[in-house]
Amino acid sequence: MNSAFPLLLLLSLVTFFSSKFCFGSTDTITSTDFIKHPSTIISNADSFELGWFSPPNSTAQYVGIWYHQISIQTLVWVANKDTPLNNTSGIFTISNDGNLVVLDEYNTIIWSSNITSPTANTTARILDSGNLVLEDPVSGVFIWESFQHPSNLLLPSMKLITNKRTQQKLQYTSWKTPSDPSKGNFSLALDVINIPEAVVWNNNGGSPYWRSGPWNGQSFIGFPNMISVYHIGFSLMIEDQTYSFSIFYNSNLLYNMVLSPEGILEQQFWNESKGNWEVSWSAFRTECDYYGVCGAFGVCNAEAIPVCSCLTGFKPKVEDEWKRGNWSNGCVRITPLQCESSARNNSRAEEDGFLKLEMVKVPFLVEWSNSSTSGSDCKQECFENCSCSAYAYENGIGCMLWKKELIDVQKFESLGANLYLRLANADLLKINDVKRKSKGMIIAIVLPTILVIFIILAIYFWWRWKAYKNEYSRKGNRLKLRTDDMIGDKSEFKELPLYDFEKLAIATDSFALSKKLGQGGFGPVYKGTLLDGQEIAIKRLSRASNQGYEEFINEVIVISKLQHRNLVQLLGCCIEGEEKMLIYEYMPNSSLDAFIFGSAKQKLLDWRKRFNIINGIARGLLYLHRDSRLRIIHRDLKASNILLDKDMNPKISDFGMARIFGGNEVEANTIRVVGTYGYMSPEYAMQGQFSEKSDVFSFGVLLLEIISGKKNTGFNNHEHALSLLEFAWKLWIEDNLIALIDPTIYELSYHLEILRCIQVGLLCVEESINDRPNIVTILSMLNSEIVDLPLPKQPSFIARPTQRDSRISQQCVNKYSTNSLTVTSVIGR
Ligand SMILES: *[C@@H]1O[C@H](CO)[C@@H](O)[C@H](O)[C@H]1NC(C)=O
Ligand SMILES: *[C@@H]1O[C@H](CO)[C@@H](O)[C@H](O)[C@H]1NC(C)=O
Ligand SMILES: *[C@@H]1O[C@H](CO)[C@@H](O)[C@H](O)[C@H]1NC(C)=O
Ligand SMILES: *[C@@H]1O[C@H](CO)[C@@H](O)[C@H](O)[C@H]1NC(C)=O
Ligand SMILES: *[C@@H]1O[C@H](CO)[C@@H](O)[C@H](O)[C@H]1NC(C)=O
Ligand SMILES: *[C@@H]1O[C@H](CO)[C@@H](O)[C@H](O)[C@H]1NC(C)=O
Ligand SMILES: *[C@@H]1O[C@H](CO)[C@@H](O)[C@H](O)[C@H]1NC(C)=O
Ligand SMILES: *[C@@H]1O[C@H](CO)[C@@H](O)[C@H](O)[C@H]1NC(C)=O
Ligand SMILES: *[C@@H]1O[C@H](CO)[C@@H](O)[C@H](O)[C@H]1NC(C)=O
Ligand SMILES: *[C@@H]1O[C@H](CO)[C@@H](O)[C@H](O)[C@H]1NC(C)=O
Ligand SMILES: *[C@@H]1O[C@H](CO)[C@@H](O)[C@H](O)[C@H]1NC(C)=O
Repeated sequence: MNSAFPLLLLLSLVTFFSSKFCFGSTDTITSTDFIKHPSTIISNADSFELGWFSPPNSTAQYVGIWYHQISIQTLVWVANKDTPLNNTSGIFTISNDGNLVVLDEYNTIIWSSNITSPTANTTARILDSGNLVLEDPVSGVFIWESFQHPSNLLLPSMKLITNKRTQQKLQYTSWKTPSDPSKGNFSLALDVINIPEAVVWNNNGGSPYWRSGPWNGQSFIGFPNMISVYHIGFSLMIEDQTYSFSIFYNSNLLYNMVLSPEGILEQQFWNESKGNWEVSWSAFRTECDYYGVCGAFGVCNAEAIPVCSCLTGFKPKVEDEWKRGNWSNGCVRITPLQCESSARNNSRAEEDGFLKLEMVKVPFLVEWSNSSTSGSDCKQECFENCSCSAYAYENGIGCMLWKKELIDVQKFESLGANLYLRLANADLLKINDVKRKSKGMIIAIVLPTILVIFIILAIYFWWRWKAYKNEYSRKGNRLKLRTDDMIGDKSEFKELPLYDFEKLAIATDSFALSKKLGQGGFGPVYKGTLLDGQEIAIKRLSRASNQGYEEFINEVIVISKLQHRNLVQLLGCCIEGEEKMLIYEYMPNSSLDAFIFGSAKQKLLDWRKRFNIINGIARGLLYLHRDSRLRIIHRDLKASNILLDKDMNPKISDFGMARIFGGNEVEANTIRVVGTYGYMSPEYAMQGQFSEKSDVFSFGVLLLEIISGKKNTGFNNHEHALSLLEFAWKLWIEDNLIALIDPTIYELSYHLEILRCIQVGLLCVEESINDRPNIVTILSMLNSEIVDLPLPKQPSFIARPTQRDSRISQQCVNKYSTNSLTVTSVIGR
């Protein structure tokens, strides 16, 4: 009797409501609604669907969320993972106390959102991000979110969150099998004991299965292919003690990161034409990616056979097993350390030293020292504690120390970090001996051989050069620039498609004035139409311009290595005799300055388009700054260098001034201050010091220009002759930012977003380099991932330098007035 009554009630409810959900046109459920197979609810923009499902090869019934618009049912979240139903008689609803529940046909709760103090009359809604939220009816606050109780899959707006103090982690757990979503063998979480690191744990043994290596502020060391796929974008935010890692990608494609039942972390994209997911990145590329394959003090090198060897100065612990390929026992020291033996033995052995291992994934269980602020401090700190067996010093992290066994060291072909391994002096001497011997070999045999080859080559090239001088040849359709064409230390060009001068002349009506699009950094730019109809832009180096030639080569070096949707694409070049030209994709909408600064076109860019442009520029900059393989400071970011394609997507152009930074270089100095006043950061304009943050400054100016529709330089407010930055700051102080906004873009519904952007712009132009956010943070701020923005400090007003700065400015202007139009405002007479 007891259970029959609710059942009857329920059955009547089912009949009463079943018509309501036949159409599945809503995205919410309330305490009076429920979802029963096969009805579903769908998010507002049709992106995600919630309902009952059975995994492949299974009849068990679960409540879950999946992508609505793709042909393969891909589950992103499951409610009753561990308690499936056997048939389709269950319902998903909100209980009287306000919790989300899954009920079986006897009205028994088999899953609950389990909030301890729920409020009545809550509603649940599925959002377009894929998040299922339970809302408080009064405040609208989310009292429960499926994103906080994730399954095996990371959607773009989901995060790996860990609180360093409480060690509370948001864990992602693999499915048992593709047909069983219950708790599998692996889980993914962000490990933040000392330095943040993503780790896949094996739930059975509690040991790591895969690890990313520590986060160095830009990427995970030990994750080299993260760079090559980095257009996918990773970010790690630290707020107070909370670390959150997320993925983002400037794309319309669907993408996610998923932990497979086998513990393999993969990033996948939906390929519409293929109708399937495509794995773009996998945590396991080689055998070496399994945690600790080579045991303690072993090192794994995927290029070597066998992959495992002992670290230098170590030998296998169990020789026979090691030879058999059983590496689990690891290695032990050959010679004990002096610091260990001297206490007991008073031996006269020499002090221990350190051996540098280059390009490695550093071991697990790192300790971090906040007292050492340089490589030598770090070395000393490690040296002073005998249990310290290795150290490393990395920009972006600082001093890392390892006090125990070294586990999971991996040797890379490139990138990675330098690890300094503590060894007894005797072992270090031995290593040096070996090195010296091989050096001797080189001197005795290899050097003479090289010398002979060199002489032969020299004669050959001299002969070729003579032949070349005699007969000017135009054969071959590809160009490989030779070393003597290069400047500075910039190495190796990629091969670039070579265009025929004649074809380009035809394409531009012999470089007719009517085809001229404008003036670039080092020469005029023409529009051309090739015979096959392709439209191109041709930048022609002005003759007899040395400066221009340097910039030309620089542009080739920089841009030929880059490819990103927010950077203009170089198609090829043409070098024939005196003529030097670069060929780019043609941008039908010319540059941003043509749109924002007070022309009739101003109206064509509404706020959404401008926001998209701001975001695109930021993403282009992110690509330039955060590719640690080739970090690039643009140095001349301004509205006229932002080109717009037919869909008004921004593309950064003009890399004539760009500087490539080495992996660890953070800032540099230059005597040649190049760039454009109004966009130059104070430290760059005055001291020639440039870094990512000088580009950030320019970005800030650009952002304010885009919003206000006014130029920073030559900006005249009718009352006072203020620069745009001064004007913006004045309005900020007066709490009257609306006056800054270009009236053609202002709409009340965008009010907050625009103000937010202005605040970001003001943060970017702050005087102190350290106060300015980096580009990763800027993107998070723009996209409201960081909700509370810091308050900006007064910007520096560099537009009109004082007397003190005039010397440098003058020098600059002199240098550029003849052959470059880049310095647009002449100042400091
Ligand atoms: C389902 O079963 C079939 C036949 O046993 C098998 O080929 C297929 O791989 C299975 N699918 C999944 C997802 O396990
Ligand atoms: C489903 O069926 C299996 C075996 O047939 C049984 O063990 C399990 O208890 C059933 N589950 C429910 C919720 O009835
Ligand atoms: C659903 O399964 C339960 C046991 O798992 C069973 O008692 C019930 O009769 C089934 N209902 C239907 C409609 O098949
Ligand atoms: C609900 O929470 C309580 C305590 O917070 C816990 O003991 C219980 O196992 C939870 N139930 C479910 C289904 O998660
Ligand atoms: C919930 O809604 C019902 C009907 O709308 C109402 O009678 C009841 O007072 C509400 N309860 C609360 C706690 O607001
Ligand atoms: C999970 O671990 C169990 C026990 O170690 C093993 O039997 C099972 O095959 C593992 N599953 C997967 C998918 O590796
Ligand atoms: C999608 O798949 C098709 C066919 O396999 C392939 O040609 C295309 O390059 C893929 N698209 C993307 C974006 O990877
Ligand atoms: C590897 O060696 C250890 C210790 O000698 C032994 O316990 C283990 O069974 C060996 N593993 C294999 C796969 O042979
Ligand atoms: C002490 O020194 C002797 C030789 O100098 C060496 O054989 C022995 O292993 C050392 N003892 C310890 C505990 O290091
Ligand atoms: C280093 O960290 C300790 C605690 O972890 C803290 O008390 C100390 O102030 C820090 N020192 C510096 C220089 O940051
Ligand atoms: C060396 O490091 C260990 C582990 O951090 C620590 O416990 C020990 O006190 C240190 N020893 C010295 C002499 O600082």
